[in-house]
Amino acid sequence: MFPHAATPAIATGDKRVDDWWRTAVVYQVYIRSFSDGNGDGIGDLAGLRAKLPHLRELCVDAIWINPWYPSPMADAGYDVADFRDIEPAYGTLGEAERLIAEAHAAGIRVIADVVPNHVSSEHVWFRAALRDEPGARDRFIFRPGRGADGAQPPNDWVSAFGGPAWTRLPDGQWYLHLFAPAQPDLNWEHPEVRAEFEDVLRFWFDRGVDGFRVDVAHGLAKDPELPDAGERLPGSQHTSAHPAWDQDAVHEIYRGWRRVADDYDPPRVFVAEAWVPSNERLAQYLRPDELHTAFQFDFLRSPWRAKNLRHVIDDALDQAEAVGAPATWVLSNHDVPRVVTRYARSQPDHLVEADWERARWARERPDLALGRRRARAAALLQLALPGTAYVYQGEELGLEEYEGLPHEHRQDPTWVQSGFTDVGRDGCRVPLPFSGDAPPYGFSVGPAESTWLPQPSGWGRATVEAQQDDPASTLSLYRRALAARPSLFVNDSPVEWIQQRDGVLAFARGYAQCWVNTGPDVVVLPADLRIVLASDDTAYAGILPPDTALWATGGQSR
Ligand code: NOJ
Ligand code: CA
Repeated sequence: MFPHAATPAIATGDKRVDDWWRTAVVYQVYIRSFSDGNGDGIGDLAGLRAKLPHLRELCVDAIWINPWYPSPMADAGYDVADFRDIEPAYGTLGEAERLIAEAHAAGIRVIADVVPNHVSSEHVWFRAALRDEPGARDRFIFRPGRGADGAQPPNDWVSAFGGPAWTRLPDGQWYLHLFAPAQPDLNWEHPEVRAEFEDVLRFWFDRGVDGFRVDVAHGLAKDPELPDAGERLPGSQHTSAHPAWDQDAVHEIYRGWRRVADDYDPPRVFVAEAWVPSNERLAQYLRPDELHTAFQFDFLRSPWRAKNLRHVIDDALDQAEAVGAPATWVLSNHDVPRVVTRYARSQPDHLVEADWERARWARERPDLALGRRRARAAALLQLALPGTAYVYQGEELGLEEYEGLPHEHRQDPTWVQSGFTDVGRDGCRVPLPFSGDAPPYGFSVGPAESTWLPQPSGWGRATVEAQQDDPASTLSLYRRALAARPSLFVNDSPVEWIQQRDGVLAFARGYAQCWVNTGPDVVVLPADLRIVLASDDTAYAGILPPDTALWATGGQSR
């Protein structure tokens, strides 16, 4: 039915090839900001298709594309109005099918983004609920308010973007939204909701999509009593139990989804976005009959300190291995400050939340050269670890957060819902620079002012054009690392730690070793190490300076 949807050069039934997702490097395409093909300042499918050769040259195994569905953009596309079509600003369904075929022809798999916790308030189901059509509100979480006149929300839950998680309609009823008011939460106890999403998965799998990233995978099932959560510390969604998040009932949903994915040949795959209090809880999502992979967010929450990183890595590997799943390493994404910026200030001794990081921008000046040096070293660490690795667009260019993005351009609902106290996530979502010295830096053929978020000055040095022939550039480092990774750190060979002093991480894996120095002192390397790739030129003379990393072969001294 969809002859152009063949999966990349694979032998059907070949177990090794079907397991591609266990070791893949996946490039995250934030489509709105990747490449604009028609000059309106918004990234789109035409732009992405035109840049596939660039992604192929980068040697990525797959791309994950953020939501591409019709959306009023109350939350940059995570407010989906129709799960079976393409946002007109991005293109058409036919173009999406062509993109999938072209990506496959280039050996790149395609992971789409499914948003099952909530829909847009413009979705046909919620419009029917607003009109109070019979049964329509049962698909959502509607409740009467508390207090004599029902003017208090049904419970004390707060939205992840700030403010109450409930909005009252003129008729007096309240509905739940764990995110923006324009993102009403679905009721996953309703059989139609379950059937609908399994059908949506099939719709895209039939069109050749190789897998889905599952948005807010830990949010779908709520404690049916909807009890008060009690007073919460900021960021505690990630550290302690809550009746809205990570409820055991969610796992039955994913068992159903796994059956849908396994019906395909080759089987389709999932990666969960699940912010849960521990890796033990995360592993529950990765049981053999549930989701294949789940982002390892402790890795991006870790400060640039060997001790913290080692703890995160060991814990993540142990817990994933206990259920036979690979770990999934992430340094950043469209929801957190860019890694260069996180590493550009003093490093705390604890895991870092995005809002904590943004709150200190005004108090401490960044040293971006230092942040970039550490981010390059972190990339070599990430890409040497067993499992899958996600690269957020712009990491390969060493981009920093646009901290100074003018407030009047901010689009993230976090800015408004936090009462203008948290600037939110726009600074990591700025359109990518490809060429030239001034905005729009080859992102768009349209005028500089048209890009949906403005770009900073000074990104001329960060463009693909400026970096591609420079062997010392971050782009060259990524290209070399991605090309070398499969032959050095073969498949899922385990991490064997090499004893080192504080501040240093060193391990052997497969045919190579990875050394990382987060400490203040120079590390003298064993004489028999042959360096294959270093994050910085200064690491080539038998020493590993502070904030650098390298890959090497040889090395007997454990
Ligand atoms: C997680 C997404 O990554 C984020 O961008 C979005 O705001 C929320 N889920 C709500 O869908
Ligand atoms: Ca466009």
